[in-house]
Amino acid sequence: MPDLVFPADFLWGAATAAHQVEGGNDKSDWWDWERQAGTPVAEPSDSACEHYSRYPADIAMLAAMGLNTYRFSVEWARVEPSDGVFDQKELDHYRAVVDCVKASGLTPVVTLHHFTLPRWVALEGGWTSKRMPDLFERYCRRVVEALGPGVPWYCTINEPTAMASGAYMCGWGQPPGVVDVRRWRQAIAGLVESHKRAVAVVHELRPGAKAGLAVFSVERVFNAGAKPAEEYKQRMEEEVFLEGAVDDDFIGVQTYTRHYLLMPRIAAPLTRLALAIRPLEGLVVPRVMGLKTGVNGTQVLAGGRLTQMGWEYRPEALAAVLRRLAGYYPAKEFLVTENGLATLDDRERVEFIGRALTALHAAMADGIRLRGYVHWSLLDNFEWAHGYVPKFGLVAVDRETQERTVKPSGKFWGEIAKSGKLASSE
Ligand code: BGC
Repeated sequence: MPDLVFPADFLWGAATAAHQVEGGNDKSDWWDWERQAGTPVAEPSDSACEHYSRYPADIAMLAAMGLNTYRFSVEWARVEPSDGVFDQKELDHYRAVVDCVKASGLTPVVTLHHFTLPRWVALEGGWTSKRMPDLFERYCRRVVEALGPGVPWYCTINEPTAMASGAYMCGWGQPPGVVDVRRWRQAIAGLVESHKRAVAVVHELRPGAKAGLAVFSVERVFNAGAKPAEEYKQRMEEEVFLEGAVDDDFIGVQTYTRHYLLMPRIAAPLTRLALAIRPLEGLVVPRVMGLKTGVNGTQVLAGGRLTQMGWEYRPEALAAVLRRLAGYYPAKEFLVTENGLATLDDRERVEFIGRALTALHAAMADGIRLRGYVHWSLLDNFEWAHGYVPKFGLVAVDRETQERTVKPSGKFWGEIAKSGKLASSE
């Protein structure tokens, strides 16, 4: 196979999210949830990777690796610790991070919301609150103003489906972690409206910047019996949010794996019927949304190769999802805002990156407007309910000393970024 050459202006990056790396995010809902009895969280985030203070060295390291893009998030709980009270010191902090990224010659991709809420917002009902679009718009306005004109890419909300379903549907491990169809629908509506407001804020304040949603998705395999259930899931996990992204400048693609949904043929008419009967909603919908698979309640086929998360090792899932989303919005630009895997064997990450890029390159050759690929994650970090066990990083972090060590995959990724091509393995 010849070398796979990418466009000269391709964004080659790595990502983090505030709560997962900064440490000490004690005004957020997650901080409380990590300490509450009975939640699925394995361990508290505590000092995380101390990225809040170590960001200059981390950004310098990312640049030295050869990457040209850094995606990170602003922490709402720090910026607005109580209703309408903005902390200028924290706004200045994030401005300093942007300045540092730019001074290192990197392109900043800023996420305005990545999973965590300020405690006071969560107490108001989070995304289900009627006030939420106004609150989110006010927060975004302050942040976009404070960060100055130097941010060319804004992700508004990271994986809204993980917020809605994770918190109110199928136990994906987001606070408050309940199953409640009514609140789930409210959260979806609140997320869509809040996203639109954030896009409008970016367009108003920074006409040159691009704003987009970071969309979670998986490659989907299903049979005839599972078709109605799968269509319902796609609609509620993906399409409702894509519809809300009509004014976006780009769509952020976040994919990790492939899901199977295999059901007996008879399940198709039964599911269709059950979903059509409104009073049954509370009973049926959580079951449909919780269905991730076909075999023995697992997400993978028997004998499948798994990552540390128990997800199927499937580098090609990313391009498959990109192609599906591009079918929905053929003219839009796309940016891979997350893709990666948790593994203790770093050779698996090298293989994963190579295979993912090969499939992306083919999608681009077919005309899809992909502008870059940001790998998840820069650092081994706090993987939400799973704590510090899963290793997603291109860079290892010693939990005792906070020492960073670039893994072979980080070096490999940096070489690709520097050369702008995936060299032939022959
Ligand atoms: C999230 C990240 C998370 C990653 C791996 C994505 O859903 O945006 O915060 O660490 O997946 O689970």
